[in-house]
Amino acid sequence: MNDYDRRTFLRRTAAAGIAASTASLSLPSPADAAALSTKTNLDDPLGVRAQFPVTQELAYLNTASQGPMPRPVQEAVTSYAEERMTFRDPSRQQATFERARERFASLFGAERDEVAFLYSTSDAENLVANAIDWKPGDNLVVDELHFVTAFVVFRELERRAGVELRIVPAVDGRARPEDYAARTDARTRLISVAWVSNRNGFRHHLPTLAEIVHARGGYLYADGIQAFGTFPTNLHAEGVDFACGNGYKWLFADFGCAPLYVRRKHLDWMQPDRFGHGQVAETLPDNRYELTRTASKFEYANPSHASIAAMDAALGFVTDVGLDRIARHTHNLAGDLRNELVGLGRNLFTPADNPSSIVSCYHDLDPEVLGSALAREGVRFTFQEDGKLLRIAVGMFNNRDDVDRLLQIIARMV
Ligand SMILES: Cc1ncc(COP(=O)(O)O)c(C=O)c1O
Repeated sequence: MNDYDRRTFLRRTAAAGIAASTASLSLPSPADAAALSTKTNLDDPLGVRAQFPVTQELAYLNTASQGPMPRPVQEAVTSYAEERMTFRDPSRQQATFERARERFASLFGAERDEVAFLYSTSDAENLVANAIDWKPGDNLVVDELHFVTAFVVFRELERRAGVELRIVPAVDGRARPEDYAARTDARTRLISVAWVSNRNGFRHHLPTLAEIVHARGGYLYADGIQAFGTFPTNLHAEGVDFACGNGYKWLFADFGCAPLYVRRKHLDWMQPDRFGHGQVAETLPDNRYELTRTASKFEYANPSHASIAAMDAALGFVTDVGLDRIARHTHNLAGDLRNELVGLGRNLFTPADNPSSIVSCYHDLDPEVLGSALAREGVRFTFQEDGKLLRIAVGMFNNRDDVDRLLQIIARMV
């Protein structure tokens, strides 16, 4: 038993009420091991593991890449496919669409009229960039922890519109509000952030950024793909102007449905960047049309109904589990993970006390050897920065055993 195994055994046995004394620590007896195994198999803090078949085979610590599909979502998609084969209920697609919109709005503190379903998070970044009436000399501010789409879109905008992209550096894994304030001025039209960074899980405090940019007359956009589904929030109270996040990660829906929130006061001036039959509110003579004025003005074509069915079921599921419970459980586990990685001498890229479910560290090991060992043990994770950075994501279905499976492998290699 190495030090890590010993500590893990102690913690587990204490939790299971098995180890009476730590004085003569040795490997667990077969009876204790069986008791431990029973105990840990029952370790399902949110009571959701049965809904996630992936938990039977893998320590799936990769929801920041793709969330595994839970049973209720799979059932909704199957049922959608059956409907497409039989056409028994013609009103169903529209009803599902409207229920999903209502569910998103009520779960995240928005009004239905402020919610549109786009196809991807990247759609929203483009939409916001294209809606603003940029003048040469305007600027926008992002930070190093943002997702690659933002840099692609805004470098292109810089080239086409003569605006300046200002990039806040990450300091100790954080993009600090004071560094945003220092780069924001009267020509700042937009601050765009990954609400929770895909790189290290750093979570922005949106009300602070909203205050900074609104004082200069600009807008705040939050890419919410790593945020939606991981903690309770109210979009009105966050102060954000626009936010969007695809369903295939922490909402446990699928690709192709990305709810967009647009604060009501922006719905009049914001123009869609593409048009089609989906926006028609009223048909006028001479092939003219009155277009919708709510957030549905961004829904220009038929939606991806299978993805909407998945989103609808997923939002119902996440609502039932409870965002407060999800946040408490996953943030605690992520906190333990941070502490224990530090205990194993690893260098964290994620800041201490960060309220998110993502943890990244520089593992300082051979990525090929580490990657193969983790794969052999059925641990799923993501390498970033050419394999130097290990990103771990703790979902609602993960438990202490999943985290231990990863930590034990690292402990044996250091
Ligand atoms: C922060 C962030 N934004 C955007 C995306 C991409 O989302 P989409 O494919 O919906 O554009 C990802 C994907 O990993 C991400 O982590």
